[in-house]
Amino acid sequence: MTEIDQDRVLIFDTTLRDGEQSPGATMTHEEKLEIAEMLDDMGVDIIEAGFPIASEGDFRAVSEIAKRSKNARICGLARANPADIDRAWDAVKHARHSRIHTFIGTSPLHRAIPNLTQDEMAERIHETVTHARNLCDNVQWSPMDATRTEWDYLRRVVEIAIKAGATTINIPDTVGYTAPVESADLIRRLIAEVPGGDEVVFATHCHNDLGMATANALAAVEGGARQIECTINGLGERAGNTALEEVVMALKVRNDILPWNTAVDTRKIMAISRRVATVSGFPVQFNKAIVGKNAFAHESGIHQDGMLKNAETFEIMRPEDVGLMSSNLVMGKHSGRAALRDKLHQLGFEVGDNQLKDVFVRFKELADRKKEVYDEDIIALMHAGEESE
Ligand code: KIV
Ligand code: ZN
Repeated sequence: MTEIDQDRVLIFDTTLRDGEQSPGATMTHEEKLEIAEMLDDMGVDIIEAGFPIASEGDFRAVSEIAKRSKNARICGLARANPADIDRAWDAVKHARHSRIHTFIGTSPLHRAIPNLTQDEMAERIHETVTHARNLCDNVQWSPMDATRTEWDYLRRVVEIAIKAGATTINIPDTVGYTAPVESADLIRRLIAEVPGGDEVVFATHCHNDLGMATANALAAVEGGARQIECTINGLGERAGNTALEEVVMALKVRNDILPWNTAVDTRKIMAISRRVATVSGFPVQFNKAIVGKNAFAHESGIHQDGMLKNAETFEIMRPEDVGLMSSNLVMGKHSGRAALRDKLHQLGFEVGDNQLKDVFVRFKELADRKKEVYDEDIIALMHAGEESE
């Protein structure tokens, strides 16, 4: 029987597998090794390093990541057939801690593709999970498109997978279709109603098609899931996957109402976010939660004034906690006198009230013409003022 720590949520990162599957996000071998090292170093529990049968390159990357891994468990993906599972095992077996993750689409739409009856698919699940378990003592099984699978059938196949030896049952919301209340309920019912459901770890794997991936993942944890599958920057097919930085920071900042812990060192978030953006070629949107350029930036006078008096007025997290040096008071047409005085002080200019009044007028004129006023612009304004005196 698996001992499950109810206070802890395992973080399963799939940037290198589901994330890399986004069209255009392909990474080189070296880049994958670098990202895996960063994930391991920041305290991610499980790294899904790739899909070993997909290509020779994927196999090499997963094998190398497995060999170099320190603490994280290294996982390889496999479809529900022996060849895929053997290939995944050959790649991950080098790791100190390894996992085979095998899956099959269980919803009516997905069952129609291999044209299997419910009974034939159930038999396939039994055989493939048994096969994986004979190779590796840590096996994850996923019913792809679980959230659009009929409840009775989902319950039946989850029971089969548990009986065949799966140690983690992942419930994918493959097309981002569920909503928080349903996400929590589904996991709660599976744990309560499937025999052996309380002896395995349930995982949640959400996609962001309706922008609910983070909310759905956290709701699943409320329902009893103890593993969240996610990617850095929410990288992933279509609208992406649950973003690691969002769930980890939500659990940290709102631990009062989301009382579960992770082992992630959140101060390493910004560095890996930037690196993944660079190597994947997917820039992070400016207003992206936690890691966007504007996530800790303030321009309006009221906000800047509040920030200068007490940062908690407009920030619920400390920038240092995600690996930033400080918040950013952006100087622009919405900025007020307090922010300008503070900026001048940072730049080494001490001004009296009259001088501030004068510079402020000229600053506003400039800000009306420019989107953002840089330090150099303010220095130039000060020098121009000195010359005209
Ligand atoms: O979204 C999905 O269903 C997946 C599975 C392979 C787990 O990525
Ligand atoms: Zn997915």
